[in-house]
Amino acid sequence: MRTFQRHDRKPCCCWRFLLLFLLIHANIYLSIGQKYQLNIVSGAAEKGAVCLDGSSPGYYFSPGFGSGLNKWIVYIEGGAWCNSDGDCANRANSFLGSTKIFGPPSSAAPTTGILSDNPGVNPDFYNWNVAWVRYCDGASFLGDRDEPVVSQGQTIYYRGARVWDAIMEDLKGKGMAVAEEALLAGCSAGGLTTIHRCSSFRDVLPPQTLVKCFADAGFFLDIPDLRGGQNSANYYHGVAVTHNVMGNLDSVCTSSRAPDAQWECIFAHNVLPYVRAPIYILQSTLDSWQLQTLVGPKWMDPTGEWNSCVNNMMTCNSTLLSAIRGYQRKMVEDIGSGSAEERGEFVISCLAHCMSADNNRWSGHGGKFTIRGKTMQQSFGDWFYGRSLEDVLLVDEPSSVNPTC
Ligand SMILES: *[C@@H]1O[C@H](CO)[C@@H](O)[C@H](O)[C@H]1NC(C)=O
Repeated sequence: MRTFQRHDRKPCCCWRFLLLFLLIHANIYLSIGQKYQLNIVSGAAEKGAVCLDGSSPGYYFSPGFGSGLNKWIVYIEGGAWCNSDGDCANRANSFLGSTKIFGPPSSAAPTTGILSDNPGVNPDFYNWNVAWVRYCDGASFLGDRDEPVVSQGQTIYYRGARVWDAIMEDLKGKGMAVAEEALLAGCSAGGLTTIHRCSSFRDVLPPQTLVKCFADAGFFLDIPDLRGGQNSANYYHGVAVTHNVMGNLDSVCTSSRAPDAQWECIFAHNVLPYVRAPIYILQSTLDSWQLQTLVGPKWMDPTGEWNSCVNNMMTCNSTLLSAIRGYQRKMVEDIGSGSAEERGEFVISCLAHCMSADNNRWSGHGGKFTIRGKTMQQSFGDWFYGRSLEDVLLVDEPSSVNPTC
């Protein structure tokens, strides 16, 4: 206030403020994205491999160093899906449908958890190459339609599968083709991508490369909603049909179904048994996104009782509590089990959605987010390197809440 008059003398002062404002913001972006450089895949558009809005796909890249020079994490960004032409038209004008649009700082490529370069937080992967793939197709990189669609005046391209192939080619050219070790990972919609793309990720790399996959919060259930309806099934049916994903789902799964039921192979539980590479499932049995979006979306919960029940189970009445218990049991049942070499699991009963790119959850800071005393970082690292197979199938009791949440 004291300096206001002085500044006011010059008519140009507001421009100075604007400049200062821009500099401060540019700085914030730089410090968040310091580790990464955006790589737009060259030549992708010519091959028809484009984001929803027709822009070229891309990923953020951070080079490996030391013993990690030849090791690669490909981490797939999450962000739900679009399930109709109208929904996808809106998405095409957002950072989840275009690489020309940048999201809020909170959506920037994380440098935390399994993506951290701090060996204290991330001892096994801190010095690896990281490619953080921008999620820009709206269907977990599974869609494929030749002809663009016009909706609400927006031309939309459903080309997730071509985008996937273009990104894999580009990464191979950047050095991944000779990786010693490679990990495909992702959370939420990116966790679902990881489950669907794990086998083909194995196939694009040389046989001598150690290849494993890590799906965080990629299990979305086909479960009745609060009103006994099929909200979840309708949602994923919309995604599958809008993007025409059927040709990119596991063929063992689709070939055992009638044509009009093949879309069901988009659900993780229907394809996990056919994944042809070792995969580790990190999942909450109290997945906050699913409970609040698929099981009991806002429009089914006008009084907010479900929402408060999900956030504080002490407030649940018996009907709502049994819906939560049913969800937990189905999650554990659907994930199933496998041999510890081929399948790792950390299935925790904590209200959470994504966990691997969070410093505290990943490293179990203060004993939090642990199962039988093991952190997800320890369990996953042991499994990845086969150091110990003792605590790599960790599953909480399905009708419990983990005391370390
Ligand atoms: C619990 O709350 C829900 C939502 O308000 C309601 O539909 C249900 O009937 C209630 N159940 C009991 C046993 O009161």
